[in-house]
Amino acid sequence: MLSFLNRKAAIFTFAAIATLQIADLGPANRAFAADDPKAVKDEDGKYFDAKGNPTYSIKPDGTVDWFTYSGYRRYHSECHVCHGPDGMGSTYAPALLDSLKHLDYEKFQAIVIEGRQNVGNGNEKVMPSLGLNKNVMCYLDDIYVYLRARSDDALGRVRPGKRENKSQATIDAEKACLGE
Ligand code: HEC
Repeated sequence: MLSFLNRKAAIFTFAAIATLQIADLGPANRAFAADDPKAVKDEDGKYFDAKGNPTYSIKPDGTVDWFTYSGYRRYHSECHVCHGPDGMGSTYAPALLDSLKHLDYEKFQAIVIEGRQNVGNGNEKVMPSLGLNKNVMCYLDDIYVYLRARSDDALGRVRPGKRENKSQATIDAEKACLGE
């Protein structure tokens, strides 16, 4: 089982590799078309797309996977204050449902971990570095999956109703990450 710190180290390595690749490719190749969100794998209630990135699963009757539901709650406790309700954006911070159309999973993680500043030209906008905040880091996939569903219009501006149960594997991973 990955501890919180191992997981962070893994994410940092990921981010470093992603940055290197971007530097190698140059600006012309930076464009990102959102990956196909279709879930091809289900591991104990956590869904993955063909690239192995976390994704949502929403059944025809509206039942959402646990991570989409959890991500809704975590987003609204950790990101909403700046990024607005339902990923819609605010005058201060961008609409993350639009951001996910041009940010891939690694880039999304890197920005949340490292933060970003856009200061100058009358701007004073700061995305805080949240890499040490367990209430964010232990639920980063949840938040990503929720925003991915919002970005694809697979989920409306609603609190998800019916949801799948939280699996034992998810409960264990959460406890390990929080250090309980
Ligand atoms: C204190 C306010 C604040 C909080 C809290 C916050 N953000 Fe941000 N975030 C910002 C601002 C401001 C920007 C734009 C920074 C810039 O222009 O470079 C931003 C940018 C981003 C971006 C890049 C968007 C893009 O289109 O490039 C991502 C991704 C992001 N935030 C994710 C999150 C997530 C996920 C959370 C919650 C876990 C979160 N943020 C919490 C203020 C915040």
